[in-house]
Amino acid sequence: MAKQVGITITEHILRQQRENPRATGAFTTLLNELIVAAKVISREVNKAGLVDILGGTGEVNVQEEQVQKLDVFANRVIFERMCHMGQLCCMGSEEVADLIDIPSQYPKGNYILVFDPLDGSSNIDVNVSIGTIFGIYKRESKDANEEVLLDDVLQPGSKQVAAGYFIYGSSTMMVYTTGDGVHGFTLYPSVGEFLLSHENIRIPERGKIYSVNESYCGYWDEKTKAAIDYFKTKDKKTGRPYTARYVGSLVADFHRNLLKGGIFMYPADLKDPKKPTGKLRLMVEANPLAMVVKQAGGYASDGHGPILDVQPEELHQRVPLFIGSRKDVEVAEAFISGKMGPG
Ligand code: AHG
Ligand code: MN
Ligand code: MN
Repeated sequence: MAKQVGITITEHILRQQRENPRATGAFTTLLNELIVAAKVISREVNKAGLVDILGGTGEVNVQEEQVQKLDVFANRVIFERMCHMGQLCCMGSEEVADLIDIPSQYPKGNYILVFDPLDGSSNIDVNVSIGTIFGIYKRESKDANEEVLLDDVLQPGSKQVAAGYFIYGSSTMMVYTTGDGVHGFTLYPSVGEFLLSHENIRIPERGKIYSVNESYCGYWDEKTKAAIDYFKTKDKKTGRPYTARYVGSLVADFHRNLLKGGIFMYPADLKDPKKPTGKLRLMVEANPLAMVVKQAGGYASDGHGPILDVQPEELHQRVPLFIGSRKDVEVAEAFISGKMGPG
């Protein structure tokens, strides 16, 4: 598609629909509704410093983490916007323990939406970028009215038909893929439209940035320590040491590395013996970004193989995540899987 200044996200999605002879428009409707939800969340995020919406609700989510009010708000906005338009058979959210059914009064479709309504929630009240992450699957060969089972939803990330994120930063952006490259749109706030600003994003093959919460190094095994040491070791040929950048919102850390090149890591650690697989969630965080990075020419690994090949066992499964520039992630994977050693 030739670059065209001023093209809206709606037009972009419609063009992609026209290029797919089997498209019915259902998917286009779905994405458009999600965009409306994100605009509502964006507006609320922008005024977070102005209204009394900061601080925790005092509740904890299904992962035993403090829930902040904007998480609850974002979750509700997405549910309410997406439940009635007839394209989804169910949803899965980071904030909700079980699958979210479509209320019986509404028609159902064949798509499944999984999402992290607000990622980086610890950054809400300090004005650091946060975001919404989403992945879309198709329910395989079932009647739309048949009850949706967890097994219908537990598909590997490679089955996603679309994925992406919204980032609420110095500007609000949508970055998405339907399997035909990665495209970025920036919200023009006073007009309320997302305009194409980053066409066909490609991540550099090798980056200059490593992003990891190094305060956990005491909880890492030797292979993980060696992987992270690699990026800090001097080597002229590969441009090391890399520079460190980590703000603690996956969306923001990922987005920066996608545009500039680099690797984001959230390895397995022994911090919480109940959660030996790291913190990030396979279905609502790792898989959508893994599809995006792959479409941009990068790679996402759990340390042993592609994230997109992991068969989920549960909705809220956690997974170690190494994601970003292909060569950097391959090196990290080689250390974690024992193919490369220290020295
Ligand atoms: P969420 O706000 O959706 O719970 O996600 C927070 C995640 C992710 O955004 C970030 O990369 C990570 O938590 C940071 O965790 P640490 O504070 O352990 O580094
Ligand atoms: Mn998150
Ligand atoms: Mn979240």
